Amino acid sequence: MNKLQLTTFFLLLLSSTAASSSPLPAQKTGPEGTRWAILVAGSGYYYNYRHQADVCHAYHILKKGGLRDDNIVVFMSDDVAFSVGNPRPGILINKPTGSDVYSGVPKDYTGSNCTADNFYAVILGNRSALTGGSGKVVDSGPDDTVFIYYADHGSAGLVGMPVGKSVYAHDLMEVLKKKHTANAYKSMVIYMEACEAGSMFDGVLPGDMNIYAVTASNTSESSYAFYCPGDYPAGAPPDFQTCLGDLFSISWLEDSDLHDPRKETLEQQYHAVRRRTAMDSENSSSHVMQYGDKTIAHQLLSFYIGFDDGAGADATTSRIISTTSYHDRRLATATAAIPRAAPVSQRDAVLVHLQQQFSLATRGSQEKAEAEMKLEREIFRRKQADERITRIGAMLLGGHDNAVNLMNSVRPSGHPLVDDWDCFKSFVETYEEECEEMPSEYYGKKYSRALANMCNAGVTLHQLIAACKKACPNNKLGKGMVNETIFRP
Ligand SMILES: *[C@@H]1O[C@H](CO)[C@@H](O)[C@H](O)[C@H]1NC(C)=O
Ligand SMILES: *[C@@H]1O[C@H](CO)[C@@H](O)[C@H](O)[C@H]1NC(C)=O
Ligand SMILES: *[C@@H]1O[C@H](CO)[C@@H](O)[C@H](O)[C@H]1NC(C)=O
Ligand SMILES: *[C@@H]1O[C@H](CO)[C@@H](O)[C@H](O)[C@H]1NC(C)=O
Ligand SMILES: *[C@@H]1O[C@H](CO)[C@@H](O)[C@H](O)[C@H]1NC(C)=O
Repeated sequence: MNKLQLTTFFLLLLSSTAASSSPLPAQKTGPEGTRWAILVAGSGYYYNYRHQADVCHAYHILKKGGLRDDNIVVFMSDDVAFSVGNPRPGILINKPTGSDVYSGVPKDYTGSNCTADNFYAVILGNRSALTGGSGKVVDSGPDDTVFIYYADHGSAGLVGMPVGKSVYAHDLMEVLKKKHTANAYKSMVIYMEACEAGSMFDGVLPGDMNIYAVTASNTSESSYAFYCPGDYPAGAPPDFQTCLGDLFSISWLEDSDLHDPRKETLEQQYHAVRRRTAMDSENSSSHVMQYGDKTIAHQLLSFYIGFDDGAGADATTSRIISTTSYHDRRLATATAAIPRAAPVSQRDAVLVHLQQQFSLATRGSQEKAEAEMKLEREIFRRKQADERITRIGAMLLGGHDNAVNLMNSVRPSGHPLVDDWDCFKSFVETYEEECEEMPSEYYGKKYSRALANMCNAGVTLHQLIAACKKACPNNKLGKGMVNETIFRP
């Protein structure tokens, strides 16, 4: 478009926006009851900066939407804002030129209190089941809505927590069923960013529980980190050695920053987010999916994230999130092309961090030597993990080729990952204990599908333990015998 055409285009845009901003029809914009939200960043460490940045950003959207701190429960390890690696101490940003999103975020369940059991207790509103933390729970009733947003590493059938046990699909579903039976919400929306996040709901979440879930990825693909180092301002600023956001997450967060939630349905946001998440090359994008009760998608976003009526937002929030009107912001999106930077598979984001650390260090320095060692060790550990699971599979599933096929096989959609979830949990825990170098290790988790398929093939726990002992002799780290901080990337 030339300049004249552009001007005409914006004039047209202006007049169409002006027309649509006439008084709102008397349409319901929220529930009879209260809006509740739970925000979870399931990882820790500077190299996972992005999950806490995503969650902090989400908090400010809800806050701007008028939700009260009493109704927003935040889980985050809270070890990043002040970590040694953070070039801007006490500040987290969620896009390259973004301002701070950390300020003002409640620290409900941080550090060792950021656990799966506390997450379940918070959903159920059961204070007596909590261990530590602020004591805040979702004490919701039959007229209330609940919004859960989760950002972390995941794998088939599970998503991580910074400490302790993972959140397993089946356990989460048992908790949600209890909440449903207790008639403790009107409707619930879950947004989940993680690798293979579809497996948390596909064949697991029934359509009749008034719960609608949107995931960053289908049951068997990576999700993607975004705003990664390199290519500033499309990517993270040069002093950052870590990605600032995740692609699905920043897509819904930035979409929510830009639009009036009273004029956008969940369905519209789903399509916008799905488009943006798939925008990049076929090899670095994921399929955003929806599960559960899809009729909920016809509701306005404002039922869950609230809306800004111009009066409610407090000083901190309006300082952090741009104070321009929805109208101005719509213009801004039209004028500024969405920045593009290559997404990075979540499981590889740590390699980007280590590479960046290495390339930024001064040649010949101690720092550079250390960075190189860390990068090499991480690559070695991955190779070793790949070899170990292949050995275990070959022992248990009748030879190498057969094992590889069986371990990777994906069930058709509508079928859960595994028939016996108790078997799955015990297999994952056994494998972590016997074969993983570090507790809650994100890379080793990628084998949860292989372990699920061993359960499906009838392998017994006794057989798995024996195979692990052969494939992973002397695995001291997993048993907590070696100083973990030395071995972290
Ligand atoms: C709350 O949690 C406690 C401790 O786990 C449990 O004994 C109790 O049954 C739970 N209450 C409800 C209402 O589920
Ligand atoms: C865990 O919660 C307890 C009780 O609220 C609190 O005293 C403690 O500081 C918290 N621990 C961390 C690491 O945040
Ligand atoms: C899930 O994603 C993978 C990788 O992108 C793709 O090969 C597969 O067909 C997808 N499956 C479904 C059910 O969308
Ligand atoms: C995607 O990956 C395949 C296999 O690695 C490669 O052949 C292809 O060129 C890649 N496509 C793009 C668009 O990068
Ligand atoms: C682990 O090693 C680090 C770095 O050498 C050290 O600072 C820390 O105190 C050690 N922690 C334990 C529990 O030994």
